[in-house]
Amino acid sequence: MAETYPAILFVHGFPLDHEQWRPQLARLTRWRCMAPDLRGLTDGAAPVGGYSMRVYADDLVGVLAAAGVDRAVWCGLSMGGYILFEVLRRHPERVCGVILCDTKAEPDTAEGKAGRDELMRVAERDGAAAIAERLLPKLLGATTRAQRPEVVTMVRAMASRLLVPGLVGALRAMRERPDSGSLLGEISVPALVLGGSEDEISPAAGMREMAQRIRGATYVEVPQAGHLAPLERPEIVNAALEDFLLHASFR
Ligand code: MLT
Repeated sequence: MAETYPAILFVHGFPLDHEQWRPQLARLTRWRCMAPDLRGLTDGAAPVGGYSMRVYADDLVGVLAAAGVDRAVWCGLSMGGYILFEVLRRHPERVCGVILCDTKAEPDTAEGKAGRDELMRVAERDGAAAIAERLLPKLLGATTRAQRPEVVTMVRAMASRLLVPGLVGALRAMRERPDSGSLLGEISVPALVLGGSEDEISPAAGMREMAQRIRGATYVEVPQAGHLAPLERPEIVNAALEDFLLHASFR
């Protein structure tokens, strides 16, 4: 049993904002939870020198510092996971546990980079709503799309209101992100890995393999969930988070 409750910093995916974590923020009231929006998506604060994983990582460590928190459990979904890897490289002393949801350690392939370029053009030409329409079918699993129209509506609204410069910056940062594969074997804090069984962007088999590469990690596959498992099946994800947060030994 953990002696004290650690703070938790939630890092959202793309093209999303902190609202993505609404079910977790509503449930995990015993813990001090922080869920900032990444730079530029809702505030128009462009970084000097351009967007990168490094900029996001440093921004988020700034959020912890401003809150007076030394170390937190970091919970990153997809792009949030890419940022979490950068935090582990640059600021490992700020991390006492990791929760990796629907993400991957590998960098973009050449095809993936071309896809980012295309999406940047779409964002600049047609706006955030067009990005939302393009990505929605992949973000949500088939079960959610068929059975939970309110989740589809919520994600569409969330993605559609984001600011184009921030979207383009995030796409560029993801396009240029480094390979984090070798980092997995170096993670020495408690780790929970979650994968949606219907995730088409970060398939569950890859998440299982990621967990196998992290010493002592727990893997939970979330049934009938796609890429946004915490939003699609909050009851299952929240139970897994609570179990991890209550029983892992955070230092
Ligand atoms: C995300 O959810 O953050 C994105 O799917 C990540 C990506 O496009 O690689």
